[in-house]
Amino acid sequence: MCEKHIDTKIVRADDTDAIKEAAELIKKGALVAFPTETVYGLGVNALLGDRVREVYKAKGRPSDNPLIIHLSDPEDAERYCYVNDDFRRIAERFMPGPITVVLKKKDIIPFQVTGGLDTVALRIPENRIARMLISLSGVPIAAPSANLSGRPSTTSADHVISDMFGRIDMIIDGGDCDIGLESTIVALVGNRKLKLLRPGGITPEMLREAGFCVEFDKAVTEKLSEGEVPAAPGMKYRHYAPRSQVTLLDGDGSKRNEYLTRFKDDSSVAIVCFEEDKELANAKNSYVIGSMYDQKQQAHRLFALLRSFDDISDIKQIYAPLPDKSGIGLAIFNRMLKASGYTVITL
Ligand code: TXA
Ligand code: MG
Repeated sequence: MCEKHIDTKIVRADDTDAIKEAAELIKKGALVAFPTETVYGLGVNALLGDRVREVYKAKGRPSDNPLIIHLSDPEDAERYCYVNDDFRRIAERFMPGPITVVLKKKDIIPFQVTGGLDTVALRIPENRIARMLISLSGVPIAAPSANLSGRPSTTSADHVISDMFGRIDMIIDGGDCDIGLESTIVALVGNRKLKLLRPGGITPEMLREAGFCVEFDKAVTEKLSEGEVPAAPGMKYRHYAPRSQVTLLDGDGSKRNEYLTRFKDDSSVAIVCFEEDKELANAKNSYVIGSMYDQKQQAHRLFALLRSFDDISDIKQIYAPLPDKSGIGLAIFNRMLKASGYTVITL
């Protein structure tokens, strides 16, 4: 991991001059963290391969894990990759928004962006600041989530400052990210068929409703065996992990309460629960993630909660409910499963 040495400038998203300055910096190859509706991105000019390498260094990210390029308009996609009708259908329906599509890349995209693959992942964020930054810079912005590799993604400027200050040139503070989980990633299999590589804000239900047949890459819901390769290389890493062990409990509120009773006074344990889990929510060491009926709220708070546990040195064990897989719940399920290293207790 590289030494901290860069003088990081922090600017506010409502400072138009600062966004112009950020766009100039991006054009020249600097590293700028910016808000999107999913999570914060760590942006670099995607056309400058040598500078893209610096992003991997700043994050401590393995170089075989490719980056997503961010554009301000789906019309620009053709400059960087080969588009087809299915891409156009997705673009019309869901872009700008929290969806990333994997397409065959054109030569203009350096292999440093794609980790050596001949495909590139492409997304058009909806966040106003992100789009302004991309269009003012006039280049595609390659951006992974703006966290140190292995830590939960950053959903506020404070998170970015904590992971990236001293490692990058600028951080744009645009407040909390709306969705709070990374974008849905799909590969186009052909003929209105998609492969879901990572679940996110655009749900399988929404994709099916738009006329697509959706199959899941195994890495979305299951642990891969030794040597198995996921279609999205990043899905093989133990992402989203707080420093303490996470254990998921598969059972309703009363079963979880029964199981966790013995830990209620234990300060080395954190109990994640829903507002509706009245008995658990009253425990001294409980952390309410939101209503069990409000998955958007749960998604919005998840990474901030996981990160907050890293600041409480006493905590060694985290127990959380196994999320429901419907809607955006599938994305919460996927992130929690990975955070837990697939540790689930069925009650
Ligand atoms: O919401 C998001 O997608 C955020 C914001 C900043 O846009 N970005 C993000 O990037 O989550 P990152 O680098 O943390 O995750 C990118 C994922 C990785 O799992 C990577 O393996 C996958 O996208 N990916 C990138 N290019 C790919 C490709 N050509 N084929 C398959 N998967 C790819
Ligand atoms: Mg990431």
